[in-house]
Amino acid sequence: MHTILVTGGLGFIGSHTVVALQEQGYEVVIIDNLSNTRLSVLDGITAITGKKPIYYNIDLKEKVAITPVFKNHQIAGVIHFAASKAVGESVEKPLLYYQNNLTSLVNLLQVMLENNCSNIIFSSSCTVYGQADALPITETAPIKPAESPYGNTKQIGEEILFDTTKVTALKAIALRYFNPIGAHKSVLIGELPLGVPQNLIPFVTQTAAGIRAELSVFGDDYPTIDGTAVRDYIHVVDLAKAHVKAVERLITKKQNDAFEVFNVGTGKGSSVLEVIKAFEKASNTKLNYKIVGRRAGDITSAYADTTKANKVLGWKAHLSLEEALASAWEWQLKQE
Ligand code: WQD
Repeated sequence: MHTILVTGGLGFIGSHTVVALQEQGYEVVIIDNLSNTRLSVLDGITAITGKKPIYYNIDLKEKVAITPVFKNHQIAGVIHFAASKAVGESVEKPLLYYQNNLTSLVNLLQVMLENNCSNIIFSSSCTVYGQADALPITETAPIKPAESPYGNTKQIGEEILFDTTKVTALKAIALRYFNPIGAHKSVLIGELPLGVPQNLIPFVTQTAAGIRAELSVFGDDYPTIDGTAVRDYIHVVDLAKAHVKAVERLITKKQNDAFEVFNVGTGKGSSVLEVIKAFEKASNTKLNYKIVGRRAGDITSAYADTTKANKVLGWKAHLSLEEALASAWEWQLKQE
C-alpha cells in the first residue's frame, strides 16, 4: 500500500488524519518539529490504530533535513499541515509567520520535485474568503485581502502551489477548512492548545472545566440570528476523512486540473450562542460567559457550500455539532 508523508502529523488535524490514513491501509511517515504539540500524540495514534507511524523530528525550514526522508521512503503523496496557525500571534509576529509557513512550503516542494514526488494536499482555510459576499460560500467566491499574516500565508501558499503546478509535474489539492473542532471518539487524541486558547471551543471546554473563569463572547451586535458571529464547525474526524479522499484522488490521477480547491465544512452555520447552548446540553453543564466587544478582524458569518466536495471528492461530513462538542468535552475531562 502507498506511503503518505504527513507534515505536522502530530498536530490537531494532522494526528486525526494520520489515524484516518492508517485505517484506510496507508503507510504513514510523520514529520513534526513539536513546536505546537507533544510527542505523546504519537502514542495516542498508535494506541488507536495499533500501528506506530514512522516519525522524524524535523523542522521544514531546514531543507537539507528533509531529503533523507524521501531517500528512505517511497512517498506517494504528501499532506502538508506543518505551519503556525494562531491568527492573533501572526499579527504580532508577521515575519515569524512568513518565514515559517512559506519557507517550509517552498523547501518541501523543492525536495518533493527533486525526488519525483508530485502529489500534495495543502492545509488551507476559509479565511481566504474574508467576509464572503454570498453565503453559503462556494470555491468560486472571490479571495479577499487577508485580515492577518496567518491568512495571507494560506493565500500565498495556494498561489505558490498554483504557479508551480503550471511548470512542473506537481499536482495539488488545497482543502479550505472551516472551523475544525472535537476529538477522536477514543479520547486518545484531540486539540492541545498551548497557553490561553485563541479558538472558541477549547476556551469553552476549559471554562467548563474551571481552568478559565468565564468565556468572553466577542460581540452580540452582528447582523445574525442572535447577534453573535456564525461559523461552520466541522468535526475533526470528518475533516480528516476529507484528506483521505483527496489523497486517493491524486494517487489515482482523477484530477481534472493540476491545482484544485475544495471547501471542507458541514454546510451549516452556528452562532456563538447556539454553540454555547449546544455545549451546555452535550456536557450537561452551565457555561459561565459574558458578552464583550467584537474581536478585531472577525467576520460576521461563514459557512460552506459543500457541493463540490460532496460531488467531486465523494466526501460529506456526517458528525453533528453536538457530537463534536461532546467529544471535545470528553477530551477536556481527560486532560490533567
Ligand atoms: C470562532 C467564533 C469568535 C473565542 C480562526 C481562523 C481559521 C482557523 C480557525 C486556525 C468567532 C468567537 C472565539 C472566544 C468568542 N484557523 N470567539 N470568544 O476566528 O472563526 O477562525 O480559527 O486554526 O482559519 O481564522 O475561529 O474559534 O477563533 O472563533 O466569542 O474566546 O467564536 O469571535 O466568532 P475563527 P475562532
